[in-house]
Amino acid sequence: MARKSLLFGFAIAKSVRAADVGYYISSSCIDPSGFSSCYSNANSSYTDCVNSNCENQSIDCINACECVRSTDYIDCAASSCWNQVYSCEYQLTVSDFINFCVNPDLTTIPYWPPPDNAPIGCSCPIGKVQLSILSDVAHLDMCTNNQTNLDELLSEDDIANYVDACTCCYQSGILSAIYDICPSTLPSLLGADTYFDSLFTDTDWESCSVYLKAYNCTSELGFSSPAGNMTDYYGPGDFPGNGTLDLFDTKGEGEMRTPASGSVFTWTANGVARTVSAVGVTGSVIGGASATAAETGSGTTTLAASTPSDTSAASVFEVGLWRLFVVSAAMLVF
Ligand SMILES: *[C@@H]1O[C@H](CO)[C@@H](O)[C@H](O)[C@H]1NC(C)=O
Ligand SMILES: *[C@@H]1O[C@H](CO)[C@@H](O)[C@H](O)[C@H]1NC(C)=O
Ligand SMILES: *[C@@H]1O[C@H](CO)[C@@H](O)[C@H](O)[C@H]1NC(C)=O
Ligand SMILES: *[C@@H]1O[C@H](CO)[C@@H](O)[C@H](O)[C@H]1NC(C)=O
Ligand SMILES: *[C@@H]1O[C@H](CO)[C@@H](O)[C@H](O)[C@H]1NC(C)=O
Ligand SMILES: *[C@@H]1O[C@H](CO)[C@@H](O)[C@H](O)[C@H]1NC(C)=O
Repeated sequence: MARKSLLFGFAIAKSVRAADVGYYISSSCIDPSGFSSCYSNANSSYTDCVNSNCENQSIDCINACECVRSTDYIDCAASSCWNQVYSCEYQLTVSDFINFCVNPDLTTIPYWPPPDNAPIGCSCPIGKVQLSILSDVAHLDMCTNNQTNLDELLSEDDIANYVDACTCCYQSGILSAIYDICPSTLPSLLGADTYFDSLFTDTDWESCSVYLKAYNCTSELGFSSPAGNMTDYYGPGDFPGNGTLDLFDTKGEGEMRTPASGSVFTWTANGVARTVSAVGVTGSVIGGASATAAETGSGTTTLAASTPSDTSAASVFEVGLWRLFVVSAAMLVF
């Protein structure tokens, strides 16, 4: 079975967008200049992180620095672009965070996944697709090790069939989430091809129909429905036609006039609490910039500036094998 745990089930393709800061068109943010300088700070911290730690190290070191940077990017949006936090741009940013950080705590990510009909939402709720896929990926091992089910199997052949059925449900679950949650979106933009290339090689996906008919993925194998109320798992050949649309921002219901999480809130990333202050909440667009989280740090170093919550002397980011100590001026790897 080919399964790359590092992929984590996330493989969102980046489409070409007319973006000037990260995935964003910064002029759409409540505080464009604060947002842009917050990204610049995060970028210089990232460069420092790589330069001072990653020479002759593996890609894991660079990914650890990327993890810190994408965490900073989330703070940038929550403070200076809170009017866009349900947008495709924000969800793509979170997607990078999930991809670069090892075992991120998904429950505390601000504004994610997006609510239904979010004001300035995304044509596809990318976060919902990702959550569904993550739950599916996490269940594969539980399925293949389900002692209740294994105990009922009499022969080696039965066990082999059972394990194949788990793999088929897992694979079908990934694709079914993409096709059912976002039926209008071009599946390749949601990573369909990447999943095929990395998770379907060396497996006999084409033979999965028979297993998907013989086993009920939800009631017998314990998988969650890919799209909430959807109970069928598509077999190869059963999929609806491909969606054709790019990802685009939608108007949704209402307008974001105030930050949904309040003007100051805390979330936790990599074990460290981060406090974010939203800018310009009174309605003035740029004027409130002095309140930006990115500018309330000790200010003289880019790293402090980009870790607004960093009230303790040193924060420890545990990223896989890497322990990055973030202190006010330097980032050291042990
Ligand atoms: C920071 O770097 C990223 C990735 O290279 C880029 O997309 C972004 O626009 C940069 N931001 C700024 C403000 O330089
Ligand atoms: C990286 O490897 C090169 C070549 O082996 C070596 O000359 C250099 O000193 C190493 N750098 C560090 C920081 O270890
Ligand atoms: C539908 O999308 C999938 C995933 O990108 C791709 O492999 C397949 O060839 C597409 N099918 C058609 C008929 O275009
Ligand atoms: C699987 O079981 C669920 C719950 O009993 C049921 O709603 C669903 O229709 C079943 N799916 C199939 C393909 O039989
Ligand atoms: C194990 O399989 C049973 C069905 O036989 C299912 O009810 C249960 O949820 C499964 N356990 C897990 C952890 O998935
Ligand atoms: C499933 O949920 C979606 C989105 O909430 C809804 O559009 C659809 O009608 C529901 N389908 C069924 C069969 O209830």
